[in-house]
Amino acid sequence: MLNSVAPEVKSPEGPHAEALLVWYDRHRRRLPWRALPGEKPDPYRVWLSEIMLQQTTVKTVGPYFQAFLARWPTVDAMAESDEEDILKAWAGLGYYSRARNLHACARFVSERLGGRFPDTVEGLRQLPGIGAYTAAAVAAIAFDRRAAVVDGNVERVVTRLEALETPLPQAKPRIAEIVDGMTPADRPGDFAQAMMDLGATICTPKRPACGLCPYLPFCRARREGTQETFPRKAPKAKRPLRRGAAFWIVRPDGWVLVRKRPDKGLLGGMTEIPSSVWSEDFDSSAAVNHAPLKAKWRKLPGEVGHGFTHFELAVSVYAADALLSTKAPPDCRWVRLDDLDGEALPTVMRKIVALVRGN
Ligand code: ADE
Repeated sequence: MLNSVAPEVKSPEGPHAEALLVWYDRHRRRLPWRALPGEKPDPYRVWLSEIMLQQTTVKTVGPYFQAFLARWPTVDAMAESDEEDILKAWAGLGYYSRARNLHACARFVSERLGGRFPDTVEGLRQLPGIGAYTAAAVAAIAFDRRAAVVDGNVERVVTRLEALETPLPQAKPRIAEIVDGMTPADRPGDFAQAMMDLGATICTPKRPACGLCPYLPFCRARREGTQETFPRKAPKAKRPLRRGAAFWIVRPDGWVLVRKRPDKGLLGGMTEIPSSVWSEDFDSSAAVNHAPLKAKWRKLPGEVGHGFTHFELAVSVYAADALLSTKAPPDCRWVRLDDLDGEALPTVMRKIVALVRGN
């Protein structure tokens, strides 16, 4: 027939979700927060795991997730807890403002939303501590909403598929566009998790297992043999070095002095071994002027190093003995040595305790 238009046949030129989902159905990781096939995901678990996974790896998160869930099995249970207990349970995961926001979010959902998480990206974005990534991840995984979920694993997969030369972080908007284009209307939650699993198990930073990859036929970097060189990254600015001092003071009965850090600011509200300010021009020769008490301070050998997002820290540690009658200064209190582990001590403070114990 003249003039008739042939129906458009789409050629399979792009990386189709279907291929990835088939792979996912066989190779999905079993993760403590992940619903089994056919099970309905629990938004509380999905939310909690996504907040934790922003901090660190799946392996580290596992035991923290299990401990949180055992202690606070529902969002209502978490809302009724003390912030201090959440901070303690979070200790070691870093970015403690996330732990505060966790509590604030649980209270919001429990008290204002009747214990139900919103089921859209926009609704989730209104909650304390939920940014663009978490809103997309929870909407997709918990509620099967079509949302572009992009974490570090997904960035790696996409930059390789497209051999994207733009370095990170500038490439982020383009990556989000590409992921949005790839995300199917059917099973978007599984698709998001499949992309993460692909990045974590096949499309790994080093020696990716391209032979096993469902996206092999579509991967431009692999075709060009450059897969390991993606993602491109802008050179990192060197982090400045800050210095400071920490003061370990013990009573004859073995109790040590700790202090609550101010609520606002870095490690806000956490427990510390009383410490000086941390600054690039810290005067180490006058360190003891920052001590919480007058005492015979002696500097311990060694130093504690810790990396924060925006700076590196080097802390010298000073030790002294107090009297049984020594009063704790403002914001300070005495705790039994055996109880230190249960305090909301951030990792840098745990390193300081370890240095003292090794001396
Ligand atoms: N990393 C971040 N979120 C994740 C998830 N839901 N599953 C696996 N890895 C993740």
